[in-house]
Amino acid sequence: MNEKEIVLSGIRATGNLHLGNYYGALRNFVKMQDDYDCLYFIADLHALTTNPDPAALHENVKNILAEYLAAGVDPDKANIFVQSDVPEISEMYLLLNMHVGIGELLRTTSFKDKARKQLGISSNDDKDIESQVIGSESNKRVNAGLLTYPTLMAVDILIQKAHKVPVGKDQEQHLELTRRFARRFNSFYNVDIFPEPENFNFGHNAVKVPGLDGSGKMGKSEGNCIYLVDEEKVLRKKVMRAVTDEGPKEPGQPISEPVQNLLTLMELTTAPEIVQSYRDAYADCSIRYGDMKKQLAEDILKVTTPIRERYKEIRADEAYIGKVVRQGAERARERASKTLEEVRKAMGIIRFY
Ligand code: TRP
Repeated sequence: MNEKEIVLSGIRATGNLHLGNYYGALRNFVKMQDDYDCLYFIADLHALTTNPDPAALHENVKNILAEYLAAGVDPDKANIFVQSDVPEISEMYLLLNMHVGIGELLRTTSFKDKARKQLGISSNDDKDIESQVIGSESNKRVNAGLLTYPTLMAVDILIQKAHKVPVGKDQEQHLELTRRFARRFNSFYNVDIFPEPENFNFGHNAVKVPGLDGSGKMGKSEGNCIYLVDEEKVLRKKVMRAVTDEGPKEPGQPISEPVQNLLTLMELTTAPEIVQSYRDAYADCSIRYGDMKKQLAEDILKVTTPIRERYKEIRADEAYIGKVVRQGAERARERASKTLEEVRKAMGIIRFY
């Protein structure tokens, strides 16, 4: 039998998906579902590591599920599931943690960034962060779930024995840890349970989708997002308000970052010759940002409108969403429980009955 390689990826259940998620992840999920054995899930347990909010969490899970489906992930081709529907993940998370060093978790970039923010530390010095995480006596605390985020992510991947994990550059370190944990477990118990997963980006570099605020990438916490489900009016308004510059002063001057960001967005949505015409207009100082933004909004809407419309239908059909995730959970658990059995056996956790 010609076994397909296993692809797995997840998105944290924190709010709606934006264009960055779409071009960085979702669009690739759809492309891969024909050629690989794909598992896509909603990481609701990971969402608990920051601002747990019971009222919002379940809504977020449903929204993202509907967004996966609306963007074209097909439940008959790919396995769509919710992380917490697979309790084997939580059990293996406990077991794998026995082989994960506190030091290596403390040194993870994503942890340091979040801990620094949560404790309000301005210093970039790692020692300062570490000592405040450990020594903080105020009621500000960094929870152990955040520290062990990489263990949980490694388990998501390893319990399904995934080979390829399509994620952005910001997740590369987590993937590196996953490989390290896999090697460590295999060699400690002298088993060959886990393959070492690799990042997967269709041979080209991951696209970086910029935000509308003039600098940096689009991100939920940056408030610079275009959401897939933004209504037409809202979306147009956001684009028209995007940061630009005062306009080129002399012919041929280098393009400023805010304008380059809009051009980068255009490159994702607009015909190449039109993008070039705006580049030329910048170069000869005839550019009109109002026109450019109108064009950009129009072209983004061509991508998002069909998704938003399908989203509304799917989101209203909770029975359908429920059916999709039930089927997804069954298949995900089938594999997860097999791996968990192997892990328990390797570790000497043997049932008496
Ligand atoms: N950490 C990922 C992110 O923030 C989400 C995630 C959780 C994930 N588990 C995963 C991605 C497993 C890929 C595979 O984007």
